[in-house]
Amino acid sequence: MSRVVTLAHYYTQPEIQQMADKVGDSLELSLFARDAQADIIVFAGVRFMAETAKILNPQATVVLPDRGSTCSLVTQTDVAALQRWREQHADHVHVSYINSSAEHKALSDWIVTSRNVDDIIAHLYAEGKKVIFSPDRNMGAYLNFQHGYDMPLWSAVCEVHDKFNQQALDEAFAAVPGARYLIAHPESPLPVLQLADYVGSTSGMLNWVRNYAYEPDAVIFVATEDGILYNMRLARPDLRIEQAPIYAGCQCNQCPYMKMNTIEAVKRAQQGQGEVIDYLSPAQMDAARLPIERMLAFSERYYR
Ligand code: 13P
Ligand code: SF4
Repeated sequence: MSRVVTLAHYYTQPEIQQMADKVGDSLELSLFARDAQADIIVFAGVRFMAETAKILNPQATVVLPDRGSTCSLVTQTDVAALQRWREQHADHVHVSYINSSAEHKALSDWIVTSRNVDDIIAHLYAEGKKVIFSPDRNMGAYLNFQHGYDMPLWSAVCEVHDKFNQQALDEAFAAVPGARYLIAHPESPLPVLQLADYVGSTSGMLNWVRNYAYEPDAVIFVATEDGILYNMRLARPDLRIEQAPIYAGCQCNQCPYMKMNTIEAVKRAQQGQGEVIDYLSPAQMDAARLPIERMLAFSERYYR
């Protein structure tokens, strides 16, 4: 009998999360995948997450339920151009967001997730290093703004978070007579992040909601993919939690790639059918593993 472990990101539909052994953010799922005693790991997420699981647990068969589950941060990044950019900044440390292909990771010194990006870059600056950041321009711009860094940035965006905008938020805020809060994922544009009461990873935002202790009738706007509203409302059914609008009347911002994880596709993947991550060579995996392991060692030291 094959041991099957199913992982689901917070952005998948509630019914997919209910099928999973572990639901979490990118960092938690990477750690869980690395340590899983499994023959088959079904990754109900997107391709870069399944690739990371395979790199960290190469003995397991890792299956992505739908081969179309990509990420715009990956598809907007031409790896040959990235390599030239890196060569132009040979004296910099290259920090890459985990939302990147295996080839991209192999061109990186450190991988970060939205959970640890702040701490890792602060650590590098404290050591006197110069840093370039890829691929998420919005996340990099926020770090530069927030901490006064001067990191050259690669220019790709999350097509979902990039839709949040200040005008729609201003209108939504004006329609709330009482207290309101905004929490946001750092893939959102800088003008949105500047309005936020809290900026953090999916787990960070979920914890903010869990621990919320301000006005009980406030409206909490959440600038991220709508899947995690399920987890937030489950944790705090007493609160008024709404997705941030992208235009008046539309609280409908979904990641098309995460939503490809349908019940049927996940069930098939649990039988070993779907997109098996078997195309990375041992050399590619070794090169990509190094910067991921650097991050995991740092994160375990700081977060466990
Ligand atoms: P987290 O690491 O915060 O879970 O984010 C992953 C992601 O793809 C956000 O769009
Ligand atoms: Fe990629 Fe954005 Fe979807 Fe996250 S929400 S997987 S960053 S496209």
